[in-house]
Amino acid sequence: MDRRGFVTTGLAASIAGVSGGGGTLAAMLDRTPGWRTGKTLADGTVKLSSNENPLGLSPDAREAVIESLVDANRYPGDYRGPLMEELARYLDVKVNNLTLGFGSTEILQIAVQAFQGPNTPLIIAQPTFEDISDYQDTMPFEVEAIPLTKDLQHDIGRMRESAMRRPSVVYFCNPNNPTGTITSSRDIDAWIAEAPETTTFLMDEAYLEYASDDSFWPAMKWIEEKPNVIVIRTFSKIFAMAGLRLGYAVSHPTTARRLNEHTVQNSPSVVAGAAGIASLKDKDLVNRAVTMNAESKDIVHQTLDGLGLDYLPTNTNFIMHRIKGDLGEYRNRMADEGLLVGRDFPPMLDYNRLSFGLPNEMDRWAEAIKGFRKKGWI
Ligand SMILES: Cc1ncc(COP(=O)(O)O)c(C=O)c1O
Repeated sequence: MDRRGFVTTGLAASIAGVSGGGGTLAAMLDRTPGWRTGKTLADGTVKLSSNENPLGLSPDAREAVIESLVDANRYPGDYRGPLMEELARYLDVKVNNLTLGFGSTEILQIAVQAFQGPNTPLIIAQPTFEDISDYQDTMPFEVEAIPLTKDLQHDIGRMRESAMRRPSVVYFCNPNNPTGTITSSRDIDAWIAEAPETTTFLMDEAYLEYASDDSFWPAMKWIEEKPNVIVIRTFSKIFAMAGLRLGYAVSHPTTARRLNEHTVQNSPSVVAGAAGIASLKDKDLVNRAVTMNAESKDIVHQTLDGLGLDYLPTNTNFIMHRIKGDLGEYRNRMADEGLLVGRDFPPMLDYNRLSFGLPNEMDRWAEAIKGFRKKGWI
C-alpha cells in the first residue's frame, strides 16, 4: 500500500488526525460513541454475561488515562508508587501489605505459585469462580471441590475437615460467583481464628461492594494477626476497569513480600496506574455503581417475579435464575434479540447467570423475556 492509501484507512486516519493537527487525543475520545457511559457493543448487542460494570470508567479516571498517555513511552515506575499509596490510604492499610496484579486473576496465579504444590491441595467450593483451579493444568496440585450447602453457602464443615488433614490452600469466593450468594462471615471467622498457619486462606472479595447482607463482612481485619489470610480484590467490577487489568492482594507484610516475589516487573501499566489512582479518589464512584446496580436488580426481580421464575438471592452484579424450557435455546433466542445472557456453570445447569447492565439494557431484556413467555418459549 502506498503512503496515501495508508493514511486514508480507518485507524491510520485517526492517528493522522491526532498527530497531524486534526484534533487532540481527548477530542478524538470525546467523539468515540459510548465512551462516557460504557457502551453496548458496536453492533448494538448488549453484553449481560461477564459481570462487568456497564457505567464505564469514572469520568475522572478517563481524564487521568488521557493525561497519562504522554508517559506511555516510559516505564510505569512513576505511577506504581502513588497508586500503592492511594490504595493503602483507601483501604487503611500500609503499603507493605499490598501486592498489585494484572487483574485479580494474576493475584490468584501468584498465590498458586507461592503456596500450592504437589502436597498442598486447593480446597474450593463447587460451583465457584473457576479460574484458580485452571492453573492446575500447568502446575501440579490437587483440587478438592466441595459442593455448596443446600442454602448455597461454602460447606465450611467439609472444607475444614479436608484442610485439617495436611497443609492446604482454601479458596473462599464471598460473595460467590456464579451463585451471587453469601457465606456467613461469622462462620468463616470462627474457622480462621482456630486454623493452623499451614492452612492458607485466599479470600476473593471481587464483589464486596455489592453485598448488602448483614451476615457478610470483609476478611481484612485478619491480615495483621494472621499471615495465612490473603484478601484478594479487583478494580474490574465496582471500579469498571476490567479492560485495564488491575487487581490486588492485601496480606501480612511477610506474606505480601512472598507474593511480591512472584509478580511481573513494571506492572501495572501507566494507564492502569493512572485510572486506578483517579478511581480511588472519585469518592462517589462506589455509590453511583451500587445505586445503578440496585436499579437494574429491581427491574430483573420484578420481571422474574411477574413471570413466576425462580432466582437465587444475589449480593453481586449478577443473578442466577431459572427459566421454563431449554436454557441453550433461551440463550440463542436472546442472542437473536441482541442480548448475550450467560453460559453453563456446572453443576447448576438448570440456572442461567444474568449480569446486570444499565437499567435501560435490563428493560430491553425484560421486554424480550416477556415476549418469549407470550410465545410459550419460557
Ligand atoms: C470472583 C472473581 N474473582 C476474580 C475475578 C477476576 O477478575 P479480574 O478482572 O480482576 O482478573 C472474577 C471475574 O469475574 C471473579 O468473578
